[in-house]
Amino acid sequence: MAIRQEHGQARRGRLIVLEGADGIGKTTLAQGLADAIYHDALDHDPADQDAGISTVASATAGGGAGARLVFVPRRQVSQTSPYSRTLMTQLATMLWHSGDAPDLPDGFWVTLQASWYSALRTTVVDPVLAAGHDVIMDGWWFKFFSKLLLQGWTQPDLDVIFGRVAGPDAVIVLTADLGALYDRRGDFQPREMGMHAGVSDYGRQAFVTYQHDGLKNLLAYADHHRWPVLDLDAAAPVTDTLDLLRPLIAALRRPEGEPQ
Ligand SMILES: Nc1ncnc2c1ncn2[C@@H]1O[C@H](COP(=O)(O)OP(=O)(O)OP(=O)(O)O)[C@@H](O)[C@H]1O
Ligand SMILES: [Mg+2]
Repeated sequence: MAIRQEHGQARRGRLIVLEGADGIGKTTLAQGLADAIYHDALDHDPADQDAGISTVASATAGGGAGARLVFVPRRQVSQTSPYSRTLMTQLATMLWHSGDAPDLPDGFWVTLQASWYSALRTTVVDPVLAAGHDVIMDGWWFKFFSKLLLQGWTQPDLDVIFGRVAGPDAVIVLTADLGALYDRRGDFQPREMGMHAGVSDYGRQAFVTYQHDGLKNLLAYADHHRWPVLDLDAAAPVTDTLDLLRPLIAALRRPEGEPQ
């Protein structure tokens, strides 16, 4: 068992996720909001390290720095389970480092993603939450779902395939002018312009249309789950956007009913 159980530990952390269009700033902002990154939260006990294992430093144990807001990238492999780390590394290669082609059907990618989130939740995120820290992530499966819904998948299909994996405690959906996002970054991949939805004429218009359609589904999730939606100015400095987000994050970190 890689994770040290802390007896009498009162608080389990909360998982907070930023969702939004490709390139809207999920990674930049989640990183900027956090006060630690995943690797900082690990307790590199030399005895455990010999076995290739880290534990997550408890928020409450002696010398603990208190409950932190830990940034866990969506593509993070486990550092607390060597077995999971090996398999997640192979999954990550298939998912993100094998190029892009429309040759394989959606179903191939859907089941790989379900395996990814199963491992991510249980062997990356849960140990951090169990140690009493909150986690902020640069996306969960909702952006992927929002695109699958455009490609003929239904919510009940997705619920069956992903239903055994716990979702986040809170989600914030970020929106912005999509043309301004394209102009800000410019180097979008074919899959971000609709490759898997049958688009082949890539460019600004393809990006805006495809992302707009996906965003409609993300906003429907927000409506259904009563998630906050924050409309960002794509031209604003990152620091200004972080200042907008901080009070929202602080409120989401407090358990319901706890006074401000
Ligand atoms: N106000 C802002 N907020 C966020 N990012 C900004 C802002 N202004 C400029 N940027 C830049 O825009 C880019 C946002 O990209 P980032 O990778 O964070 O987006 P993302 O939503 O994580 O994308 P992806 O969906 O591809 O993972 C970064 O290069 C960042 O520096
Ligand atoms: Mg990102």
